[in-house]
Amino acid sequence: MTSTYHFQTVRHIVHGAGSLDLLADKLSLLDRPVSRIALITQPVMEENGVIARVVAALAARDVEVRIVRGVEPEPSIENVETVFREQIAPFAPHAILSIGGGSVLDAAKLFSVRLTNDEPLRNWLGIDLIKHPGAPMILVPTTAGTGSEVTPNAIVTLPDEALKVGIVSRHLLPQVVILDASLTLDLPRPITAATGVDAFVHSLESYISTKANPVSDMFAMESMRLIGANIVEAYENGHSVKAREAMMLGSMYGGLALTAAGTAAVHALAYPLGGMFNVTHGVANAMLLPHVMAFNKDAIEERLATVARALDLATAGESAPEAAQKLIDRLSLWTRQLQIPQDLRRYGVTEADLDRLAEGAAKVKRLLGNNPKPLTLDDMKAIYRRLLP
Ligand SMILES: NC(=O)c1ccc[n+]([C@@H]2O[C@H](COP(=O)([O-])OP(=O)(O)OC[C@H]3O[C@@H](n4cnc5c(N)ncnc54)[C@H](O)[C@@H]3O)[C@@H](O)[C@H]2O)c1
Ligand SMILES: [Fe+2]
Repeated sequence: MTSTYHFQTVRHIVHGAGSLDLLADKLSLLDRPVSRIALITQPVMEENGVIARVVAALAARDVEVRIVRGVEPEPSIENVETVFREQIAPFAPHAILSIGGGSVLDAAKLFSVRLTNDEPLRNWLGIDLIKHPGAPMILVPTTAGTGSEVTPNAIVTLPDEALKVGIVSRHLLPQVVILDASLTLDLPRPITAATGVDAFVHSLESYISTKANPVSDMFAMESMRLIGANIVEAYENGHSVKAREAMMLGSMYGGLALTAAGTAAVHALAYPLGGMFNVTHGVANAMLLPHVMAFNKDAIEERLATVARALDLATAGESAPEAAQKLIDRLSLWTRQLQIPQDLRRYGVTEADLDRLAEGAAKVKRLLGNNPKPLTLDDMKAIYRRLLP
């Protein structure tokens, strides 16, 4: 636990199934009047009619909307620059709206600050390097999820380095978040599974982070309770509004927890899997989670045991090592129940790649520094090797 900490979050969170219908009313929450909005989204949201509904509601208030397409899944830094130059800059929007998964929310956050800072994105890789606040933003997540809607982070892929890197700045926080779990009812099972476990990882890694503090603990614990009780139900019965609402809230709390404390080795080891082998963020984290926690276990038994008890996996009478093991066993069970891939060979990884994967992960010092137990290159290789059964 750290003794001093700092926590900042978004101004407005509108929550509830169906709350996207309130979007036009909620424009009044922005700090200035807007009549031209760039809407960054993913094809699935156009196909299911959500975007047409939003555009019509905004047009009824005389707000002009430009739909921005072409943000890649887990976008590269060049892709974000190109879409900005070709679609955002010429339109000169007053505000940014994004409806989609973490890939488009992150791009939208960068568009917002790119509008007010005439500098290449590469200048901002790292922490607190963006000078001016961005254009006002409204973010609406449709996966549950990255929690990106409430974090000051945007993650971009650097293809030349085969790595993913974070841009972290308070200017990446939106003014308004709309959490409408009804948007996630048709989220396909593999995406429900991977993004749901990613959200759990945000909370568990924040809870065991060297930067954990009372604020992150509170959000992390409630997030893990919500996700722990609902992830299998959301996977098996996607149309359960109750399970989807719990996942959406749990994901948002996960974003608040990681804002306050930071993620750790699971995320650090996931980045090169994304950068080098295109394993999606959620899948990479979900694959690594049980193995990294087994590695961490002896350093954080009490904390893992507390989580196990909160999730009703262990009783107060069981010892910390026993209870901690029960949590790790549950994480492994999830990978089977949620059909998380367990073999990196399907992504083209072989034994010969382990050195460069470990070297890639070792570059993610920002997150490795939060891990409760230091990792050597050999430790990281051993963890990756568990995924080459
Ligand atoms: N900023 C942060 O704090 C933060 C945290 C974690 C991850 N990330 C980043 O977020 C990105 C991953 O985001 P993601 O996991 O949300 O995935 P994503 O945005 O890449 O979306 C995954 C897939 O799900 C589809 N999809 C999204 N919503 C849907 C819905 N409601 N119904 C049906 N299909 C839907 C998308 O079209 C896409 O094909 C990565 O780049 C990762 O690095 C950012
Ligand atoms: Fe994540």
